[in-house]
Amino acid sequence: MSAPTRESRRILVVDDNSAIHQDFRKILTRSGEGSEELDAMESMLFGGDALPGSSTTRFELDFALGGEEGVRRVRDAVREGRPYALAFVDIRMPPGMDGVETTLHMWREEVDLQVVLCSAYSDYSWDELSRKLGTSERLLILRKPFDSIEVRQMAHALCEKWELLRASHRRMEDLERMVEERTRALAEANARLLHAQKLEALGRMSAGLAHEVNNPLSYILSNLRHVVRGLETLPCPVEGVRARDDLGEACRDAILGAERIARIVQDVRVFARVDEPPRELVDVRQVMELSISMAAEALRPGLRLVRDFHEVPPVWGSEHGLGQVFLNLIINAAHALAGREEPFIRLGLLRREDGRVAVEVQDNGCGIRAEHLGRLFEPFFTTKPVGTGTGLGLSICHGIVTRLGGDIAVDSTPGQGTTFRVLLPMASRPGA
Ligand SMILES: Nc1ncnc2c1ncn2[C@@H]1O[C@H](COP(=O)(O)OP(=O)(O)OP(=O)(O)O)[C@@H](O)[C@H]1O
Ligand SMILES: [Mg+2]
Repeated sequence: MSAPTRESRRILVVDDNSAIHQDFRKILTRSGEGSEELDAMESMLFGGDALPGSSTTRFELDFALGGEEGVRRVRDAVREGRPYALAFVDIRMPPGMDGVETTLHMWREEVDLQVVLCSAYSDYSWDELSRKLGTSERLLILRKPFDSIEVRQMAHALCEKWELLRASHRRMEDLERMVEERTRALAEANARLLHAQKLEALGRMSAGLAHEVNNPLSYILSNLRHVVRGLETLPCPVEGVRARDDLGEACRDAILGAERIARIVQDVRVFARVDEPPRELVDVRQVMELSISMAAEALRPGLRLVRDFHEVPPVWGSEHGLGQVFLNLIINAAHALAGREEPFIRLGLLRREDGRVAVEVQDNGCGIRAEHLGRLFEPFFTTKPVGTGTGLGLSICHGIVTRLGGDIAVDSTPGQGTTFRVLLPMASRPGA
């Protein structure tokens, strides 16, 4: 709602006597008769200084012949966004609402409205008025017959007060909005911090665990491989061959299991940033080709793989890290295509208008349920059966990409397919 400009402040006169309307017009507008006289009196009283704002302030006067009309005008003015600053209200306006009731109704329409109640005699005692209207700083009493200077003074002072009141309300609203915004920003920062702390704690724990598991695992593996080799060359009687082959089979199974543990430990180390890859200029297309060949085992025959590659500039990152990202995304896509007729994966490489390189991995697989979308990048979130997925793939991707100053996002429609989009910043050496 905009306030009227300082040059034109709106005043409403509510009086059942139209002669009084004329009096107010004379006193408050310069055009009225005797205004020179008033100006002269003002300058005599205030030593040549005009009343605050009197030289710039023009009053815009409206008149109402009764309380009901007055209230309606106040309501309309609020609705138009040009509220009145001040109302002079006659106390006695038979047979309609009296001034006190009118004031109460007007304040319901516009709380800041300043009111001057005009009374010829003591229609109400001050106590009675206070009881009816409450002690309000918005209210003054003016005794009839009026003193013109007093009326003008009141008009100037109360309009000024109304203006200040509105300004302070607006300032309050601005402050409240600012406080709200800051509180929201703080809450978000807090949530991010909490998330980062949780991840850091998880990272530390995982790194410790990975470290502890790694050593025993490496000698379990090397010993198992040694046993398998030994068994293969062990001379044994014919009746012992079967037992030897059984043992060999058991050891090979154990090796598969141990290798799987080793892969998980390696993932956890990456997630915990134990092995921070070095930065270098990376040819994204070349890394993508490498990831495709590494994923070959997971890409079942009959799958259509489309390369939608455009010319892209090199990015500043880690070949190993990005290779892991693409591999994870391609393998996830391949898994999502299980049982799909006409499975297809589209790999996109393009340069965006903002200069970033976009890498897209799109599949026409099972898609992702809406309630899972927000959790994909959480460590250990997986929908795959126990023993199949650790749920670390995407959180590792997220970690690698964001550490390079990039972004990773997903778009998915259940039953139709999924697109992962990795945005990588253009190559510019850190600090360059
Ligand atoms: N292309 C995709 N289509 C459908 N669902 C997907 C796709 N990619 C990821 N998901 C969902 O996101 C989950 C988390 O993926 P993420 O790669 O983090 O872990 P994972 O594949 O389950 O296990 P792993 O740690 O072995 O990668 C998956 O279990 C799957 O539900
Ligand atoms: Mg995965």
